[in-house]
Amino acid sequence: MQGLEKSHLHARRSRLLKGLTGSVLEIGVGTGVNFEHYNNSVQVIGIEPSSGMLQLAEKKREKSLAGTRIQLLNVGWEDPTLLQHIATESLDAIVCTLVMCTIPASEKAVVQFSQWLKPHGKLILLEHIQSPRSVPAAFQQFINPLWRQLAGGCNLTRKSDQLAELAGFKILEKSYFKYGISFVEATYQKEVSTFSTL
Ligand SMILES: C[S@@+](CC[C@H](N)C(=O)[O-])C[C@H]1O[C@@H](n2cnc3c(N)ncnc32)[C@H](O)[C@@H]1O
Repeated sequence: MQGLEKSHLHARRSRLLKGLTGSVLEIGVGTGVNFEHYNNSVQVIGIEPSSGMLQLAEKKREKSLAGTRIQLLNVGWEDPTLLQHIATESLDAIVCTLVMCTIPASEKAVVQFSQWLKPHGKLILLEHIQSPRSVPAAFQQFINPLWRQLAGGCNLTRKSDQLAELAGFKILEKSYFKYGISFVEATYQKEVSTFSTL
């Protein structure tokens, strides 16, 4: 992961996150690796269901420029108590980096993200996805049950870019890259205030 982080992810995280403004929700902050990339004009709610990860994220928050503007909550995206913190159409951006592969019910998650975003709000994705080629995709399908057990619930078979597009998000920027497996880097925009019914 360190090689991938240095060669591909760090610069992409920076490019995707440094210009964000307003209210931001980050899904599954992990150890807080994105915090250094936020500028000091954002207000971030970072959620993370693992208490161990959250403790590490708290340390990174202290060192980041956005520091006191990052509120951390020990919940997953599907936790109903999150609705007390986030009103409908209240967010300027939602950030998902290496998290759509792991969260439960990712189809429902993107619909919920659309509901939380303001019209024209942004959905940021930096994610590994299932290969677009049929033979590697079939292999990924085959090994996914074992992979998921070994890799903390991570799935190799998610098509998170397609999910966002099916949920009605407009593509502002999108590119793909490979590091052993396929990745997408994308900024989407919520176009209208009507919700998708995926
Ligand atoms: C591979 S880590 C990615 C961490 C970080 N976003 C990054 O870019 O490195 C996936 C994270 O998703 C979190 N996660 C798992 N289930 C989740 C859920 N239901 N809602 C939000 N985050 C979840 C995990 O605890 C883990 O910290």
